Amino acid sequence: MRRRGMIETRRMTSADLPRIAEIQAHCPEAAHWKPEDYLHHQSWVAESGPALAGFLVLRETAPGEAEILNIAVDPACRRQGVAAALLRGASLDRFEQVFLEVRESNAAARALYTAFGFSGSGIRPNYYVCPSEAGIVMKLQKWYGLGDEGPTGPLDV
Ligand SMILES: CC(C)(COP(=O)(O)OP(=O)(O)OC[C@H]1O[C@@H](n2cnc3c(N)ncnc32)[C@H](O)[C@@H]1OP(=O)(O)O)[C@@H](O)C(=O)NCCC(=O)NCCS
Repeated sequence: MRRRGMIETRRMTSADLPRIAEIQAHCPEAAHWKPEDYLHHQSWVAESGPALAGFLVLRETAPGEAEILNIAVDPACRRQGVAAALLRGASLDRFEQVFLEVRESNAAARALYTAFGFSGSGIRPNYYVCPSEAGIVMKLQKWYGLGDEGPTGPLDV
């Protein structure tokens, strides 16, 4: 288990699924999967106090490469560092590259990913449906410069 202030992250278990479904229902911008399917991937939850505040799902797509499939934080727990704790808890620096897609209009998620060192690497017109919208492909590239913090420096939230 990783601790970050009052936020703790750990791997998702089947006992978490009812709460995952609840959070997902409150996050229309997130991907909506059957919660049990998340257990087939690398999935983390964040606990803030007694409650489960958010989750992140990652798929290893190739050696050294991964894709973030979903991340969602209960609206009542936002802007408290929950998503940042999840991204850190998932130890993305294990991978050479991490990819994700995000709706063009999802300013909060795009700001989160940018703050974490992701940058835009492509656009997929009409990638999303209902409503139809472009998907921005974002990539986090492992950084081998001086230090190991990437071109944008560490995110301290
Ligand atoms: C995107 C989301 C996961 C962010 O979760 P969060 O726990 O509120 O994010 P954090 O508190 O960890 O924010 C970390 C940093 O990301 C950026 N950020 C997050 N939300 C932001 C917002 N609404 N506006 C601007 N910047 C934002 C900021 O840089 C923030 O640091 P700061 O609070 O010190 O300024 C959350 O808004 C969410 O669940 N949205 C709905 C689901 C979704 O869109 N998922 C992504 C699908 S691709």
